Amino acid sequence: MFSHERIIIRRGPESGLPIIVAVHSTALGTALGGCRLKAYPQWQDGLADALRLSAAMTDKCALAGLPNGGGKTVIALPTGATPDPGLRVAALHDAGSVIEELGGHYATGPDVGTGPDDMVTIGHRTNHVFCRPAGAGGSGDSSPGTAAGTVAALRAVCRARFGSTDPAGRSFAVVGLGRVGGRVARLLAESGAKLVVADVDPAKRSLADELGATWATPEEALTAAVDVLVPAALGGLLTPTSVAALRCAAVAGPANNQLDTPATADLLHNRDILWAPDYVVSAGGVISATAVELHHESPQQVTARLDAIADTLTEVFASAQRDGVTPSAAATAEARRRAG
Ligand code: PHE
Repeated sequence: MFSHERIIIRRGPESGLPIIVAVHSTALGTALGGCRLKAYPQWQDGLADALRLSAAMTDKCALAGLPNGGGKTVIALPTGATPDPGLRVAALHDAGSVIEELGGHYATGPDVGTGPDDMVTIGHRTNHVFCRPAGAGGSGDSSPGTAAGTVAALRAVCRARFGSTDPAGRSFAVVGLGRVGGRVARLLAESGAKLVVADVDPAKRSLADELGATWATPEEALTAAVDVLVPAALGGLLTPTSVAALRCAAVAGPANNQLDTPATADLLHNRDILWAPDYVVSAGGVISATAVELHHESPQQVTARLDAIADTLTEVFASAQRDGVTPSAAATAEARRRAG
């Protein structure tokens, strides 16, 4: 079904790179979604990513109770080439120009491949950008908010699956130790959890050592015998093949678009593995950025909003059980009810 309100695909006049801005829905308000700067085999793969990710942002904002819809920006780099700093700036300017043309229907923020400083660069062309560094008038890095929201979600998962919210003594496999995954691993370690951690970057092993975690390859961590698998890297890791090999009781993490197709949620359910919908778990970044930049809320108010992710997830699990459907189906139904 075609459901996107507007998709702009343009060869960036300053960079020559494909700039893709997908506005999925503005039914609840300005569409929000980060700017992803990533290499794709073909630019069409970047378009597919933008379409899926922007639709997920609609569900994310709706279930987070935000007056916002979903969108996404993708700057599709050719594979193998790392852009020189000049090309990167040009591409971010191109993205900013497209966003400016949308006149406030869409605002961006950081995502895979971009950070607060890049938001300053986008900000040269448009004001519809979140998460510039504090010194530049923004709320800065959104990953602490995403990580805190993820840990709140993990507590709700532990309660639903094991009867207690306490991560102490429970085992978690964190796949991906980037800006969000690294923080989640640290917070879990501080709570007394047992950790298996993995990253494609071998340099991340030092964090594993620091946290007293077991270092593994991403493939090993994915199928580790743990209580909870925490996907914290790129999406698409839950496939019919990988689900058949899982040895965990629950899957909950901040990676966007974890399921290869929606039907994989049924495979998890059939294996009695509790899957927390990623767009509920990962809402902390967009929740904290909007709370600080639009509502000027105090740190205590922001923390309360992030903790509420646990309540949302508990409601999703409860309605799934009540209606005899997967948490994915329950969450999607609730998002449709709110965002149309
Ligand atoms: N990458 C963030 C997400 O997927 C996007 C974002 C963060 C957008 C903060 C706006 C503000 O939710």
